Amino acid sequence: MTIRAVVRGVGHYLPERVVPNSEFEARVETSDEWIRARTGIERRHFAAEGETTSDLGANAARAALADAGMEATDLDAIIVATSTADLTFPSAATMVQAKLGMRSGFAFDVQAVCAGFIFAMSNANALILSGQAQRVLVIGAETFSRILDFEDRATCVLFGDGAGAVVLEATEGTGTSDDRGILATDLHSDGSYCDLLYVDGGVSTTGTAGHLRMQGNQVFRHAVEKLAQTAHASLAKVGLSGGDVDWIVPHQANLRIISATAQRMQVPMERVVVTVQDHGNTSAASIPLALSVGKARGQIKQGDLIVTEAIGGGLSWGSVVLRW
Ligand code: UT7
Repeated sequence: MTIRAVVRGVGHYLPERVVPNSEFEARVETSDEWIRARTGIERRHFAAEGETTSDLGANAARAALADAGMEATDLDAIIVATSTADLTFPSAATMVQAKLGMRSGFAFDVQAVCAGFIFAMSNANALILSGQAQRVLVIGAETFSRILDFEDRATCVLFGDGAGAVVLEATEGTGTSDDRGILATDLHSDGSYCDLLYVDGGVSTTGTAGHLRMQGNQVFRHAVEKLAQTAHASLAKVGLSGGDVDWIVPHQANLRIISATAQRMQVPMERVVVTVQDHGNTSAASIPLALSVGKARGQIKQGDLIVTEAIGGGLSWGSVVLRW
């Protein structure tokens, strides 16, 4: 008997405030035209004052639980992928747990920056396959607006806030790639690339939250190469390739990276879920947001083969192949 972690529900939440590219024109030397042409981003959402990452995560969780027809008390575990937790500790996941009124099971955060949701899904899958949990809520939630340097045009125009969530449930499968659920995962990190994308503050260094710093064009080069590699690798683990894929649901950092990766995988853009124009880069939230929006748009349907991939600070990168 093969156990699979099957997606039972998906949902998302975006803060009310929409920030169009034009708002940045008054703050730094940039233009709507440059941002659209270089990134594909048109607008992003920013959290309101006092609205925290766990607030966003809890709202996305409620939507995913409703979609699954479940209550929070049905869950065994909550994993939140985030680099912008409300406090240094406790975890955003325990705060989400409290907000959902769940006092059983366990909750913890995963920090792999923009690849966080991929790492969290892989962890949730391992918990389910090892029998430690039957139902796991996996959330990606971020308030990157809080760590942006609004004087740095090379980074402040790129990121946004939001949250997405999926409910995974242990389900019997046949052991073939026709099964619903997570079929393969592929994770990588290389800490020697720390300087390419990091936050210049932290508990044991400055004692402050710090600001995001990025050598964008260097990260871009790694992204184009490594994302297609990891997607191919996870598909190969289950004997599949780009031609079998119904949807690529990529990390939404830059439309040029998304299309270059799709091209390397020989998947046409009609089979790629793209939300970067509306959300900007929401780091660990971008993939579950795209899954939820993709389903709401009628793109993603039950039985579809999906490959998700992401890269971010670390560098850390990886992919998940799942059948919806
Ligand atoms: O999610 C985590 C992973 N992160 C990513 O995947 C981000 C990856 N990187 C990127 O998406 C792109 O590298 C960027 C969008 C960040 C930048 O695009 P690029 O084509 O790599 O541009 P660049 O960094 O090489 O900069 C080109 C020019 C520079 O001016 P000079 O030196 O040619 O005079 C920049 O100063 O564009 C300038 N520039 C801007 N101009 C107007 C940088 N930011 C801006 C801006 N507005 N906001």
